[in-house]
Amino acid sequence: MSDGTNVVARLDELKQHGAYEGGIDRPLASPQERAARELFAGWGKAAGFAVTQDAVGNVFIRRAGTNPALKPILTGSHLDTVKTGGAYDGAYGVVGAICALEMLEARGIATAHPIEAVAWVGEEGSRFPLGCLGSSVFCGIKSAEEALALEGDDGPTLREALESGPGGYVTGVPMRSERDVAGYIELHVEQGPILEEAGISLGAVTAIFGQRRLRATVQGVSGHAGTLPMRLRADALCAASELILVLDRAARVEPDAVATVGRIVVEPNGTNVVPGLVVFSLDLRAPDVASLDRIEAAFNAAIAEVQTRRNVRVEVEAFERRGATPMVPALRDGIKRAAAALGKPIMDVPSGAGHDAMSLGTIVPTAMIFVPSIGGCSHVAEERTSSADLELGVEALAKALVEVDRTLVEK
Ligand code: GLV
Ligand code: MN
Ligand code: MN
Repeated sequence: MSDGTNVVARLDELKQHGAYEGGIDRPLASPQERAARELFAGWGKAAGFAVTQDAVGNVFIRRAGTNPALKPILTGSHLDTVKTGGAYDGAYGVVGAICALEMLEARGIATAHPIEAVAWVGEEGSRFPLGCLGSSVFCGIKSAEEALALEGDDGPTLREALESGPGGYVTGVPMRSERDVAGYIELHVEQGPILEEAGISLGAVTAIFGQRRLRATVQGVSGHAGTLPMRLRADALCAASELILVLDRAARVEPDAVATVGRIVVEPNGTNVVPGLVVFSLDLRAPDVASLDRIEAAFNAAIAEVQTRRNVRVEVEAFERRGATPMVPALRDGIKRAAAALGKPIMDVPSGAGHDAMSLGTIVPTAMIFVPSIGGCSHVAEERTSSADLELGVEALAKALVEVDRTLVEK
């Protein structure tokens, strides 16, 4: 039975699935990501807990509570990674969740609510275009049908990948339809430098920045790079370049806002062929919605102008629009009491990164615990957190679950 110290060994075991020279690549519904879900489900079964999954592949491990009338408190994160991911983003919150459940079990600590450790699928949105996919479906932000119909970058829909692909559902785990929840706590690495700079090992997240994910398609006209005069061109890549720089400038003038074009596809992508089609992703984040609106408005104004001047057609599709997600004070207090009980300082930190807590925050009281990221690195192979901090975070999570259990009973 875990005393929490095996969080490090389990993360090491998990990172074998998808490890390559550039980091960890574990996209949703890939064989590697499915193996990660299988591993998680196996830990739950081995510990004697009830394991279920749902229509998009989210996996839940349930430790019973003492009051059967109460809905579960959920804790977890995601197992998928970006293409150049590290071993902790998401994985830590999932492994930490099952370790916390086992810690409560080993110590004979009962909770009134059932506690469920959950692995949300597709948080990164790095194969299918929707971020926080699994938690969005669970929370009713997107329907399972819409999510299952999404096409991955490499062709198949999520339904095809889950139902017939090697990245399918976990074998031998029953389906569930239950979606009632009492509260949610997510444990995560900070992915930024604030805790490390302060020399503090625990963070109580204040709020998660608002976030938008869109995709722009620029349709121009392809042609011969040597013979098509500049005056007759409708070069999709030149048009896209102008739009991307407008986005960059618009984000720079908004306090704490960031805008990223991280993915671009150019067709036909030939040295001596004028680009006829460009598709690029937009990822916008800011502490407040007004900033996001201004950035998007600047982008849309530029589209109107660039379309006419460069004779291209631009279409924009939005996959995600989320406001900032404040963490709930009563749960944050529970996390702070947990840190105090451990005799550890804890500080308030905002989250520029997105998390499944954004989805859960739309339906139940939600809070997050951060531990430091060495050098503030994340979404790169160099992502690291010290073993001591990883273990401390699990202790804090287990204690916070007990605190929050009491808080929600008294509510
Ligand atoms: C997830 O890591 C995100 O913030 O994009
Ligand atoms: Mn994450
Ligand atoms: Mn991430």
